[in-house]
Parts: sequence; structure tokens; C-alpha cells
Amino acid sequence: MLTDLKIFSGSANPQLARSICRTLGIGISRLEVSRFSNDNLFVKILENVREKDVFIVQPFTAPVGDTIMELFIILDALRSASARRITAVIPYFSYARSDKKDAPRISIAGRLMADLIRTAGASRVLTMDLHSDAVHGFFSVPVDHLTALPYFVEHFRKRLDLANAVVVATDAGGAKRAGRLAERLHLPMAIIDKRRLADTEVVQGLVVGEVKGRDAIIYEDEISTGGTLAASVKTLADAGVKSLHVGATHGVLCGLAVKRLVESSIESVAVTDTVRVPREKQAGKIQILSVAPLFAEAIRRIHTGESVGALFD
Ligand code: R5P
Repeated sequence: MLTDLKIFSGSANPQLARSICRTLGIGISRLEVSRFSNDNLFVKILENVREKDVFIVQPFTAPVGDTIMELFIILDALRSASARRITAVIPYFSYARSDKKDAPRISIAGRLMADLIRTAGASRVLTMDLHSDAVHGFFSVPVDHLTALPYFVEHFRKRLDLANAVVVATDAGGAKRAGRLAERLHLPMAIIDKRRLADTEVVQGLVVGEVKGRDAIIYEDEISTGGTLAASVKTLADAGVKSLHVGATHGVLCGLAVKRLVESSIESVAVTDTVRVPREKQAGKIQILSVAPLFAEAIRRIHTGESVGALFD
């Protein structure tokens, strides 16, 4: 049934690509990435892809510039090798954070990346939990936008007594996302008033909603430097929460993030494996949920022409 399907991986998260292949019961396809002495990247596809349905897994993780360039060159090599259809599987699309012109003379780089992915050779894109839903519209090729929400619903149901819980959005932009989790868990929600002053600096003010004496669940698209969470811990402690738990799809965990999480009063943190979390960053309170089965099923459905949306019914 999965004839003519091939899954390749770039160097960003081969573990996830291998888990997807294991779930589908197929071997991972082979390519070679190397560097010339002048630092140029070189890609060679090591098997025949002529007329095949090809998927290439590459989340945008650090070093992001190299990772993206590697994806472009792999896409181009696959196209030159006559693949029938090429899907760029980008479990974490980091440039989704550059989704608006909120200062003069800046680039909406998320839109630029979407254009370049198509130019490089992608016929479609498969991704997960974009920073904002509107980013989907940046692409002129078909996009399947998955969500890790079902994993977090199950995680919090198993892990917490939800009788006295509340789902918290750390800013107005995350309210829709937090609302979806609150709805699925049949919980109330609250929103923190947050302003980002710079990449690593956020300030928070009022909490809108009842949090006093409750077990708070913060639900985020990503944890990057952990600055938002550090500010939220303080805001929610001042507002009198009883305990604090976090769920975030993309565990980017850069800069001081792990230290901030470990030293904070947050009791548990769950992230998925869209971004590879190296062993040294896997602190005791950080749990990793694998979304490989969801990506595997979405790939199977794209390949066989079944509905991907029906996965979330
Ligand atoms: C912001 O709008 C996002 O939803 C996350 O809160 C943010 O990306 C996290 O970044 P950091 O961990 O650096 O505060």
C-alpha cells in the first residue's frame, strides 16, 4: 500500500524522521550532506526517486540558517532527480514568528521562507502548530497544518487532577490556542497581558480570569528562551495560583531556558519532539511527548489521498 513512498531526513531531527518511518514500517531513505572546504553545502540523494512520492523531514532548528539552506538544496536535488511529488515536512517552522510588519523597515520573513520553500522544489508542506494560524496563508502550495493538541489533552488528563484547574494563555496572541485546550479539557481559561520589549525581554501585567487557588496550565506554541514563562511564573504567583504546569509544542529551549525552568516553581513541563532536545537539556521536570505517530499517519493519508483533517474530528 505504501509503494513509491520515500521519507528522507535532513540533519535537524533524524530521530523524529526514523520514528515516523518505524511507525509506517518502512526504512528511511538515504542521502548524504557534506561541506566543501569553502563552507558550501553539498547534497547527494543516494537512491532512485524518479516518479516517487517523497517526504523530507527538516524542522527549522539551530543553526537555523544552515538548516534551512540544507532543506532548500535537498528539495532542489530531489526535484532534479525527477521525484513525482515532494512534501517538505517542517514540524517546527521557526520563521512563523516573523508574521507581521509591527515595526518600520522589517521583513515578514515567514512569508519569504514560504516563497523560497516552493521555489526550491516543494509541492506541498506538512507542519505543526504554527505560531499563528494566519501563517498557513503565506504558502502558495497546499499545507497540512497539524496540531499536537490531542497529545496535551491526554497528557494533562493523565497527569493532573483537573477539578480545580485553569488553562492560561501567556498573551492575547495565544488566547485562541489556550481556548482550544480549555474547551477540550472542559476548563475555564485566563489570559495574561504581556508585552514583548525585545527578543529576550517581556513584561506582564494583569491576569484576566480567575486563577487564585487554582492549578494553572500554561499552553504555548513554543518555549524559546523561557523569558515568557519566567515572567508568567511571577505574574501567576502574585495572582495566587496553587500550582503551575506547562505544555508547549516546540521545545526550542535556547539560551537560559533550561536553567529558568529548573529553577522556577513550575512543577512540570511537557514538550513534543518536533525539535530534538539533546540529553543534556532533558531536565527532570521536562517530559517529551512524541508526535511521530501523528506525522506518520498524516504522511500515510497524504500518500493515499485520504483526508488529513478527519484525523482531528
Ligand atoms: C510568543 O508569542 C510565543 O507564544 C511564546 O510565548 C514565545 O515564543 C516564547 O518565547 P520565549 O520562551 O523566548 O519567551
